[in-house]
Amino acid sequence: MAIRVAVAGAAGKMGLATCEAVEAAAGLELIARVDPALGVDLADVLGEVDVVVDFTRPDVALGNIQACIAAGVHAVVGTTGFDLAEVKPANGAKVLIAPNFAIGAVLLMQFSQQAAKYMPKVEIIELHHDQKLDAPSGTAARTARMITEAGGPAEVPIHSVRLPGIIANQEVIFGEVGQTLTIRHDTTDRRSFMPGVVLAVRKVASMDQDLVVGLEHILD
Ligand SMILES: NC(=O)c1ccc[n+]([C@@H]2O[C@H](COP(=O)([O-])OP(=O)(O)OC[C@H]3O[C@@H](n4cnc5c(N)ncnc54)[C@H](O)[C@@H]3O)[C@@H](O)[C@H]2O)c1
Repeated sequence: MAIRVAVAGAAGKMGLATCEAVEAAAGLELIARVDPALGVDLADVLGEVDVVVDFTRPDVALGNIQACIAAGVHAVVGTTGFDLAEVKPANGAKVLIAPNFAIGAVLLMQFSQQAAKYMPKVEIIELHHDQKLDAPSGTAARTARMITEAGGPAEVPIHSVRLPGIIANQEVIFGEVGQTLTIRHDTTDRRSFMPGVVLAVRKVASMDQDLVVGLEHILD
């Protein structure tokens, strides 16, 4: 039986790409496009779906996740800029949150962890389009946390750039005497996020833990 999916934020940039990807994916069925811009409310579709994918706004994502949990519906969340500590799955609902669904960005975070063991002086520059509501980006914040967890500095400085003409780029720069190492990821098309989103929709129901943060935890 197909996994029945609703996309919250369906009229937005990521939501549109997600609807297209869900419709093209074998074993997934797009049941609803939820967005105030389309006049469709999440509460009206929760009874008909297995998974909600949320690409909305920092100020509404948590409410959407809590509505999914109350209804026992799994949530795959890409929205960034809200407090993850407030997410408490229950009712058999599982929640996967990934600040970046692009495989290249996941690898950038893992390579940064590896480099931090040997080169602890590090700063992050993240560059995004000027419509982005949160700063620093969720990807930069998570990269910084992962570097700290790997034995790097407790505070990794993050510099945020917001300009038209950009989708999402990130540089992690390590500096040592006489050398630097720069690890850089560039997003040139939002389709880069879609294999990760589709994988998350397929795997969220069978995750061992109720709450998983980071795409890397469900990669084979
Ligand atoms: N995790 C990732 O890989 C990844 C990648 C890119 C962007 N993002 C994040 O995804 C989010 C969305 O980005 P975007 O560029 O698509 O934004 P966007 O502004 O283009 O779209 C957001 C959409 O959400 C809708 N919306 C607002 N309130 C809603 C509600 N209560 N329920 C349903 N929909 C609602 C808006 O009408 C809008 O259409 C941002 O937080 C961004 O940082 C994550």
